[in-house]
Amino acid sequence: MAQQVELKRGLKDVYIDRSEASFIDGSIGKLIYRGYNIHDLAEKSTFEETICLLLYGKLPTRRELDEFEAQLKASRAIPNEIVEIIRIAQKAHPMDVLRTAVSALAAFDPEVSDNSREATLRKGIRLTAQGPTIVTTHARIRDGKDPIPPNPNMNQAANFLYTLFGEEPDPADAKLMDLDFILHAEHGINASAFAARVAASTIADLHAAVTAGIGTLKGPAHGEAAEEVMKMALDIGDESRAEEYTRKVLESGGRIMGFGHRVYKAVDPRSVHLKDDARALGERKGQPKWFGILSKVAEVMKPYESRGICVNVDFWSGSIYQLLGIPEDLFICIFAMGRIPGWTVQVLEQYSDNILMRPMLEYVGPMDLEYVPIEKRG
Ligand code: COA
Repeated sequence: MAQQVELKRGLKDVYIDRSEASFIDGSIGKLIYRGYNIHDLAEKSTFEETICLLLYGKLPTRRELDEFEAQLKASRAIPNEIVEIIRIAQKAHPMDVLRTAVSALAAFDPEVSDNSREATLRKGIRLTAQGPTIVTTHARIRDGKDPIPPNPNMNQAANFLYTLFGEEPDPADAKLMDLDFILHAEHGINASAFAARVAASTIADLHAAVTAGIGTLKGPAHGEAAEEVMKMALDIGDESRAEEYTRKVLESGGRIMGFGHRVYKAVDPRSVHLKDDARALGERKGQPKWFGILSKVAEVMKPYESRGICVNVDFWSGSIYQLLGIPEDLFICIFAMGRIPGWTVQVLEQYSDNILMRPMLEYVGPMDLEYVPIEKRG
């Protein structure tokens, strides 16, 4: 007789370790990176400064930030072999290409198997810097265009838009991208960070852990939601159809993408900034349509707030990316590019007091079956 076990399916509400990286109070929609409220970082910081905060545990001095930015800019190039791999895999989804390229970069990183704190930090910085280069190299190759070399005079956000489109971005667009990266930089032990920590718990290297993180982020229950939200908005097509569309999805037992969260049972604080920006960007680009459609969907979803199904980070971000001219299937890569510093911190924390992650499964299959030779099976 099997012993009675208490299942914690999906590890819901299970604490697996301690962290100094970020704190979420899902009941009131509060998010903190290393002690700093996400609203302050969104309004006052930059992605580069936020990465420093996450990686080194404190806000940098001017000199430290200058040095860090120079290091990041100097690390953006990817080897020709990686460009070749991207070329061969160009028909794949950009997330598959990003995952493959990050994995393949292990073959070229001189410190790949050095899991010391210093080497892992350097690798995290290199992967953060190389992420946009991989994504934009792929986006251009698949469009039959030449990749654009990274621009050392631009920050991560502006450089991403520049290497994607081939022209200097509007500073307001670059600022929005920067904000988006800040908002995506770290989020505790969500599914992708957990995957990265599981890999790290075997003492696998950072490239392995980030590859696991990217692979796990890909699903629509996690990172793919922004793309799904935009597909929904395109499907709706006009604000006048939004209410009927939303009700139909809900009545048929479907889910509205960009709503609900395992931890947030109140409005996701990151979505507040993105909502304001989606509205402003729509007006600036003379395309208020998407904001109108999504606002209507949000209005229909309002009663669900009392059940803890509230707007999340992905709801407004898709429309922002769309208005910036970014192809839909790149949306999730933006999340991944922003999250590499967060995964790095999670891996560092795992290494610092490691324990192998090895939960249990309750076996519910048959027992003690008699082995029948193949020729006697019916
Ligand atoms: N639209 C409508 N109903 C939703 C919903 C949504 N987006 N998200 C959750 N629900 C409902 C479920 O149908 C379920 O209802 P039930 O109790 O009547 O069966 C209930 O809320 C709980 O859902 P569950 O999947 O158990 O909660 P969870 O905490 O495991 O789910 C998500 C979290 C993110 C997987 C879920 O909210 C979801 O699928 N959201 C849409 C995808 C998305 O936006 N993902 C990005 C997250 S940042």
